[in-house]
Amino acid sequence: MASSILPLCTTNIPSSFSNNTNSSFLSKPSQIFLHGRSSQSFKVSCNANNNVSEHDKNLDAVDRRNVLLGFGGLYGAANLAPLATAAPSPPPDFKTCSKATITKGPEVSYSCCPPPLPKDTSTIPYYKLPPMNKLRIRSPAHLVDEEYIAKYNLAISRMKDLDKTDPLNPLGFKQQANIHCAYCNGAYRIGGKELQVHNSWLFFPFHRWYLYFYERILGKLIDDPTFALPYWNWDNPKGMRLPPMFDREGTSLYDERRNPQVRNRTVMDLGTFGSKVDTTELLLQNNNLILMYRQMVTNAPCPLLFFGARYVLGTNIEAPGTIEKIPHIPVHIWTGTGKPKYGEDMGNFYSAGLDPVFYCHHGNVDRMWNEWKALGGKRKDLTQPEWLNSEFFFYDENKNPYLVKIRDCLDMKKMGYDYAPSPTPWRNFKPNKKSSAGKLDTSLVPPASKIFPIFKLDVNTSFSLDRPASSRTQVEKDNKEEILTFSFIKYDNREYIRFDVYLNADKNVKPEDLNQAEYAGSYTSLPHTHKPGDDDHVSSATLQLAITELLEDNGLEKEEKIVVTLVPRKVGEGLAIGCVEIMLVDC
Ligand code: C2O
Repeated sequence: MASSILPLCTTNIPSSFSNNTNSSFLSKPSQIFLHGRSSQSFKVSCNANNNVSEHDKNLDAVDRRNVLLGFGGLYGAANLAPLATAAPSPPPDFKTCSKATITKGPEVSYSCCPPPLPKDTSTIPYYKLPPMNKLRIRSPAHLVDEEYIAKYNLAISRMKDLDKTDPLNPLGFKQQANIHCAYCNGAYRIGGKELQVHNSWLFFPFHRWYLYFYERILGKLIDDPTFALPYWNWDNPKGMRLPPMFDREGTSLYDERRNPQVRNRTVMDLGTFGSKVDTTELLLQNNNLILMYRQMVTNAPCPLLFFGARYVLGTNIEAPGTIEKIPHIPVHIWTGTGKPKYGEDMGNFYSAGLDPVFYCHHGNVDRMWNEWKALGGKRKDLTQPEWLNSEFFFYDENKNPYLVKIRDCLDMKKMGYDYAPSPTPWRNFKPNKKSSAGKLDTSLVPPASKIFPIFKLDVNTSFSLDRPASSRTQVEKDNKEEILTFSFIKYDNREYIRFDVYLNADKNVKPEDLNQAEYAGSYTSLPHTHKPGDDDHVSSATLQLAITELLEDNGLEKEEKIVVTLVPRKVGEGLAIGCVEIMLVDC
């Protein structure tokens, strides 16, 4: 068994992180949500010893690489059962569709199930991509002309009209927005578990199919088979504002429930979690490009890091891909969390689709999928059959229900659309400013074993961590990526969550210090709630950061230990982290 892929934590942590009854832990406030529903609890065994334990043996039975990356160092035996079968995520179980939940206590529920379906849902056919003669070309939203804006407004207003004449028309504006709610706020079940298309490898393909049908419906409503959605070009300084066509009061692209801060050409913060970072427009744009570089290049050298964790029937671990975390979630937050109650529209999954800009935002998210592949190397689509065969359900522009598979959405041109090019200045935007002059004395920093598990991350926290190898050669680096992994990150998933990670940085690093070479990446989560009555709101998430490039850039390749600093930015009532480790992974 190669030690490089053994999922060992460097710390000894209580054998059951979720169910601890030791009174010294009970006094910690975050304990309130370390208690999940008992059926959801699982054992954590991040033992530092090298004995091959029961769970390691279990791991041998499955594809270890998938387990490591997909579940990010998850080795609780309780979670291995679904892995062994590895069934793809099937379409939602329509019969069990029930109310979704939009916020935490007192819980508010919301109906977003699809309109009545054929009695026998097993007769819903698979969708076949229709032949294409002319591609729909999606353009940057800040560059479109008045003619396009008029067309787009007309299409959306016709869609909104359908709500008035026939509220159950699946092509109506509200019904289309409900699709997102149903797949994201706990209305559907698969295999007895809640279906969730975020925080995993379902994220990119689900939204691609969603936009595909949405675009065709809009085109049909204005009788224009080449109509294409625009894309919000937030990865380019020229597009880092709310596209002006969405900011015209009284038009159908306008949404009065947006945060007022997004108006009047304000420059956006691609990493925002609600609080304003005091800086100039130029610096903000700079930080945005650095974030893009980190998420597209540094932290996504291989597919599972970009797409997010493996999600199969029975999955319950969350590990979103790099772009899903940032800037995807911050753009939702930046646009949505103004005065309305629950972050409407864009700041809450249940209502996000009610803002027309949602589909423009996701156009660029979808475009990033291509841009990432265009970077080359190991940056390719996933090939696991359980990804390719995962399924969703949508209505086409003729109101017919269809099942779709991920495998049929990998080629945009076959799907009949493409993106008009726009510069990608983040490609070479590597941060080079160093925060701490000179070298950190790692011996002055407590080892991870003294700090983990962290029961409540509420202040900047530094610890030192052993590397599995130092001074690696180029060939070794090409073969295996060095990955800093945090597992069993526990928090209340009805809260906005973000924390940042730095390597060998000054402990007092500030939120705006993203422009430093030591900034490694962030964990983020947008509230996503569960079925009413489901009282388990504890997420157990994983964060994996590829650090090979970061170590090079900070002159740390020879070090046997590195210092990691965690900076809480938004942690709700508390955030706990079970394990940390550095692994070498052939990803
Ligand atoms: Cu399904 Cu941007 O979220």
